[in-house]
Amino acid sequence: MNYRNIPRLIYKALRQPGYALRVFVVRLIALFFYWFGKGKAFCPEAITFFLTYRCNLSCVMCGQNNSRSNSKDAKQDLTFGLAENVIKEVSKFRPNITLFGGEPLLNKDCFKIIYQIKKSRMHCLVITNGALVEDFAESIVNSGLDELNVSIDGKGELHDRIRGMPGLYDKIIKGLNKIADLKQKGNKNLPLVNIQCTATKYNLEHLEELLDVAPLASADSLTFHNLIFTSSELMDKQKIVDNELKCKSEYWNGFIFDPGFDGEILNKKFRLIRKIWKEKVKTGKFFSLDFYPNFTSKELEEYYRKDFRTKGTCLSPWITAYVFPEGDLRPCLNSDYSFGSVMDLGFNSSWNSEQALRFRRLLKNKSLFPGCIRCTELYRY
Ligand SMILES: C[S@@+](CC[C@H](N)C(=O)[O-])C[C@H]1O[C@@H](n2cnc3c(N)ncnc32)[C@H](O)[C@@H]1O
Repeated sequence: MNYRNIPRLIYKALRQPGYALRVFVVRLIALFFYWFGKGKAFCPEAITFFLTYRCNLSCVMCGQNNSRSNSKDAKQDLTFGLAENVIKEVSKFRPNITLFGGEPLLNKDCFKIIYQIKKSRMHCLVITNGALVEDFAESIVNSGLDELNVSIDGKGELHDRIRGMPGLYDKIIKGLNKIADLKQKGNKNLPLVNIQCTATKYNLEHLEELLDVAPLASADSLTFHNLIFTSSELMDKQKIVDNELKCKSEYWNGFIFDPGFDGEILNKKFRLIRKIWKEKVKTGKFFSLDFYPNFTSKELEEYYRKDFRTKGTCLSPWITAYVFPEGDLRPCLNSDYSFGSVMDLGFNSSWNSEQALRFRRLLKNKSLFPGCIRCTELYRY
């Protein structure tokens, strides 16, 4: 448990109390299973539907660029039928569902899937690059979606350059204001809009400008994400584990790069951002500010060092599940290890299949796999 997350958890609990209580209870049970379940897990708290490998952007820092969007599977999207079956099966324990990709709004069934999730009274989050939010504003508001995370990495032209699409920033701001208007007209609070910005060497100098962008975009919150990256050395070590599990972690290859800045500089920047934010929200429209993972200064500086190692423990395969377009239920985004096919076995049988137990037992034994050292999922709990 990261105690620095407590203010964020309290803020979330106040905004969505029922949701926060359920998350808390399910996490406690997951922890119990981690220690005593011998590889079995309780129902997952969260499920990510990987709606499509396709993406309409080509972002400079994205590890999925090339490694995933050009892969042989890239043409296959997750179908409504597959999503519907999983939703039906899991609706008894109501996990939170995240729609991810590639670019999830490119999946033609995206809104049908959201309606189905909301009909089953589950919490739904979409993580999008925002290129299509203007076109889909009505559907976004009418779908009952709970949260919309929109990636914005800088103001104006800087964002367009990082994301490789001229005019994108203006289009996103227009789209988000259309959503704000529709919410106001319909007297709706949802979806909550979060701007997420990934800190890279390309926007480091300008990160504080996002504090102007959040109110311009009528956002409820702004989250700065630390960069995920790895090294060939760590991936070589990961290959030993992969051989044992008979799987591949090739999607991590896109994340083999040097961040190009150090944690001390980023730490100074984050401190400045906190200071400006405090002044800004005193006089202007309130939006919450978050950093993910929410490191201490020391942790942040260590995280960006080449020789960074962590004693962290991965609990993710006890808590979250990933469903891929071809039907595989996987424990994480960047490994092709499958617990089973939800099309053949269904979700619940796959979640505690022999393969799932094998994966969790090995992971518990090692605490953490070498390739996963900078996976930010480690800091969620
Ligand atoms: C991979 S994208 C997929 C969803 C959607 N297409 C989007 O852009 O939001 C999800 C988020 O990951 C972020 N991201 C990309 N590369 C990253 C990296 N190396 N480290 C951390 N976050 C990264 C993106 O900025 C984006 O906010």
